[in-house]
Amino acid sequence: MLDKVIHHDFSDEVEALLSSMTLEQKIGQMTQAERQEISPEEVREFHIGSVLSGGGSCPGNNRPADWISMCDAYWQASMQADENHLAIPLLYAVDAIHGNANVLGATVFPHNIGLGACNEPELIEQIARITAREILATGVDWTFAPTLAVARNDRWGRTYESYSEDPAIVSSYSRHFVNGMQADLGDEAVIACAKHWIGDGGTLHGIDQGETTASFEELEKIHMAPYLPALAAEVQSVMVSFNSWNGDKCHGHQFLVTEILKQRLGFDGIVISDWDGIDYLSDDPKEAIRLSVNAGIDMFMVSVEWRDFIQNFRELLSQNLISMSRVDDAVRRILTVKYRFGLFNKPRPAARKFSNDSQYGSAEHRRLAREAVRKSLVLLKNDNQILPLKKHERILVAGRNADNRGAQCGGFTVEWQGTTGNDSVEGGTSVWEAIKGISSAAEYSIDGQSADRSRHDVAIVVIGENPYAEGMGDIRAGDDVIIEAGSMIRGKMNVLEPYGSSLELAELHPQDLETITTIAEKGIPVVCVLISGRPLVVNAELEKSHAFVAAWLPGSEGQGVTDVLFGEHDFQGKLSFSWPKHKDQQQNVGQANYDPLFPYGFGMRY
Ligand code: BGC
Repeated sequence: MLDKVIHHDFSDEVEALLSSMTLEQKIGQMTQAERQEISPEEVREFHIGSVLSGGGSCPGNNRPADWISMCDAYWQASMQADENHLAIPLLYAVDAIHGNANVLGATVFPHNIGLGACNEPELIEQIARITAREILATGVDWTFAPTLAVARNDRWGRTYESYSEDPAIVSSYSRHFVNGMQADLGDEAVIACAKHWIGDGGTLHGIDQGETTASFEELEKIHMAPYLPALAAEVQSVMVSFNSWNGDKCHGHQFLVTEILKQRLGFDGIVISDWDGIDYLSDDPKEAIRLSVNAGIDMFMVSVEWRDFIQNFRELLSQNLISMSRVDDAVRRILTVKYRFGLFNKPRPAARKFSNDSQYGSAEHRRLAREAVRKSLVLLKNDNQILPLKKHERILVAGRNADNRGAQCGGFTVEWQGTTGNDSVEGGTSVWEAIKGISSAAEYSIDGQSADRSRHDVAIVVIGENPYAEGMGDIRAGDDVIIEAGSMIRGKMNVLEPYGSSLELAELHPQDLETITTIAEKGIPVVCVLISGRPLVVNAELEKSHAFVAAWLPGSEGQGVTDVLFGEHDFQGKLSFSWPKHKDQQQNVGQANYDPLFPYGFGMRY
């Protein structure tokens, strides 16, 4: 695969179109609204450049056909030319961050933290390719992925969106993701979006949208490094981060967005703001727009208040508080990406190559997800070589997450915050369902109460976290950390209710340890499988288990777990995150006095 996607220079087409556009049309191109807040008629009336689905915002019955008819309606509206409106095709965007997981029946891949443990960059390209196929099946053009965050504090609720605490792994993946997703911008392409620029994974105390305090050299070395291969692979969009850097919000940061990203690194695609991200710059919405446009943002994800955005933007222009050349630069970038992507030549979404593709959620796609699951598992303990399990063994299966495809998939699956149980994740298998498929005699008891030494040779206990997303996954000991971090931020913070106050699983979900204890006290050896979006302090659970497997958020294919537990395949996964020894420890590889429970790179094999 070429590092540089070779593409035609569309500047003649872009300049011709740009010169025929009215101010209203230009502002419209720079606006991205949320689907629930805008009708196709409004897309035409306001010349809107893009519409998105926020996490869990799904049309109709949430089947590919529902998505296609929605995308079709928006697209047709954007293409209906008359004396006020030019035909400029709209871009539809979603968060397909681990498969096209918003949509029912999609193949759900492991979240990035699991893929980081695979340490297999080529696999990422295949996953991105299949994900693109399932996005195209729904008529969508653009995904807000890959997340190139280098998560440095496991308390951050988005740790699972990060491949690793080590920029080297994230860097080795980023171009493969872009290559797989953008597929040379041919007809199998979906536009990728590297996010969140910049320093999202470095916030103080791991507070989502918080403050990243670092020298520029540190920012460059840890957080920017993964962007370089993505930019070399010509990623067509970059999303600005909610966090601030040394007190200043990235959304208003001209140095970071214009001088570094656009000028020094030569990025010539679309810089998009995050969800209402400009709102945190100032209480005055006009001032927020002024700061962010002048910082270099080209397209504005102004989900709900898009009408006010357009009105305020007009006023700013008439007051000369935003220059026409900045607007033209932004629109030029948006049109260029639309041309490069071939959008002007594509038929309506319903008539595109992979529309309603029969491969959507297919066995073939799920095979790749299953492979990714088995490569992502990390074996942390295996006393007396209790693993691999033998098929004739009498197995008891227990634990809150044993029969829970929703928990396996985590956040950004069907709903923004994810779902629990099996009902809303269509297709695939829970770990229990996968075990049942191998051992028909296996028994299931969620809390382990039916454990019986005379009937069970071994127990598989699947424990861990419930689904969460973004700040609602944060772990915060108390509000003092917000005050400390918040005091460094010029602008507002959007602090959500956290997931818990401790990284220790026995405090977050004490019933998990109770289940293990119930079974272990009956003399039955326990194989523990942890479903979690980050390393957790599990000393007590580890101690009581004979074997312990970190399964991260494996997605829909629970059979990937049994493939390894039963020895069809050996473990391959190695920790891409250091595993803490106690709940107050936060260490990353390479730091002084590095002394985690399991170091970065750890992972046993049979
Ligand atoms: C997240 C982004 C996401 C966007 C659109 C925001 O809350 O920070 O990562 O792409 O929503 O759903």
